[in-house]
Parts: sequence; C-alpha cells; structure tokens
Amino acid sequence: MRRRLAAGNWKMNGTAEGLSEVEALLQAHLSPRVEILLCPPATLLAQMNWKKGQHPLQLGGQDCHAAASGAHTGDLSAAMLKDAGAAYVIVGHSERRTNHGETDEQVAAKARAAHEGGLVAIVCLGETLAEREAGQTLDVVGRQLDASVPEGATGLNTVIAYEPVWAIGTGLTPTRDQIAEVHDFLRSRLSARFGADAAHFRLLYGGSVKPSNATEIFGIPDVDGALVGGASLKAADFSPIINALEQVAEMELP
Ligand code: 13P
Repeated sequence: MRRRLAAGNWKMNGTAEGLSEVEALLQAHLSPRVEILLCPPATLLAQMNWKKGQHPLQLGGQDCHAAASGAHTGDLSAAMLKDAGAAYVIVGHSERRTNHGETDEQVAAKARAAHEGGLVAIVCLGETLAEREAGQTLDVVGRQLDASVPEGATGLNTVIAYEPVWAIGTGLTPTRDQIAEVHDFLRSRLSARFGADAAHFRLLYGGSVKPSNATEIFGIPDVDGALVGGASLKAADFSPIINALEQVAEMELP
C-alpha cells in the first residue's frame, strides 16, 4: 500500500562531475515498485532534472525557507526548488538542527512551506547517543514528531525519516529491535493524531545504511525505505541498496 522509497541525501557533496553517477542509476533502475529519490545540492537540481528526462527518478532539495519569497539572502524557497525540478524537500535534518540551531517549530514551518509550495516534506527526527543512553529515545522522537510535523500533513505530502544522530556517518546502526521499536512507536503516534491516514505515511530509516545492511533493515516491519547519505553518492553503492529494497517489495506481492 505504501510505495517504498530509496532516498539519497548528497549533503554538501557533488559538482557537475557527479552527474555521471546519476546516469548509471538511471540505466540500472526502472522498477516501478520502488520510488528512487536523489537530494543533491540545490546547484545540481536543474541539471539532474534535465539529465533524467522521462525517467521516474525523483529529485529533492535538502532544506527550504519557511517563507515563500523575500529578503532572505542565501536561502531557497520551496517554489524555487520545485521550479528547478524537485518534488521533495528534506526538512529538519539533524545537521541543520545542530549546525543551524533549527527548532521543531521552525522545522514545522518549513514543512508547511514545502506543502504550500507543492513539495513532499521529508521530516527528519532522531535521538542523540546521550538521549538513547538515558532511555529517552521514544520521548525525544515523539516530541519531535508532534512538533515538527505541521497541521495539514498527510501521508501523501509528508514522509518521516528516523535518523538516530549517533548512526549518521559513523558506521554504527541500531539493532533490528531498536529500529522496529521506534518505527512502531512513530506509526502509533501518527495514528493517534491522523487516524486512518497514518497508514499512508512512509517511515524511512537513515544512518549508515549501506549495501551490506540494507536487506536486513528493509525487512524490519514499518520500514518503508531509507534516507541514505554517504552510500548514495556512488551508483555502485546506492544501486545495491535500491536492489535490496526492490527485492523486499517484490516479496510482498500477493
Ligand atoms: P549516512 O548514510 O552517511 O550515515 O547519512 C545518513 C543521513 O544523514 C541521511 O540524511
């Protein structure tokens, strides 16, 4: 019922040279079972959009401003990202929360701006290692979910990405049970707020996803895909992750 999503977040990596990686992905993947999304630096969106032509690869931004336009030097609006070819935008990534002090309220305002600009918002949340060790994981992600997902969110315009801060770029991943516990909790929390529509929200896991652990992670209930950082930069790494997701999707066929 939920279309699985393999999303790559290039972060602040990539120039026009990296477009050859996109070409390799386009050639390798045409399965309609899995949606593939790349979120490159905004400087590459228009070129990628041109390169992908009619291929169903989706593109996304990595952040947007909460306002539709105005005197905000250096910022980009949702409408600008859409104009450059984006259908999605990541908001509230832990690197933005940490490096730019973004609060849940600001993240919610950005997600709302994404919706108003016609983009699907990927709202990121996740606990730090100290919070996990203090037994606060569910409190933290619950609070982030409540406050970062704006009114008007639906399973069609919003994706949730659970990215434990301590797993990002570290090579560490939570256990199967730890991921399952958080995803199950997020689904229940969405149900309490959104009722039946909660079943339509896709829940991605992110943090050190790589070809060697993708199959196990994608087999966890309520994991609808991944938000992949480092391993999305090279088609040779991202492609086997997409394949793993396609295989899990195939196995679910009636
Ligand atoms: P890594 O896959 O490099 O750990 O990054 C995860 C991430 O932050 C994706 O948004």
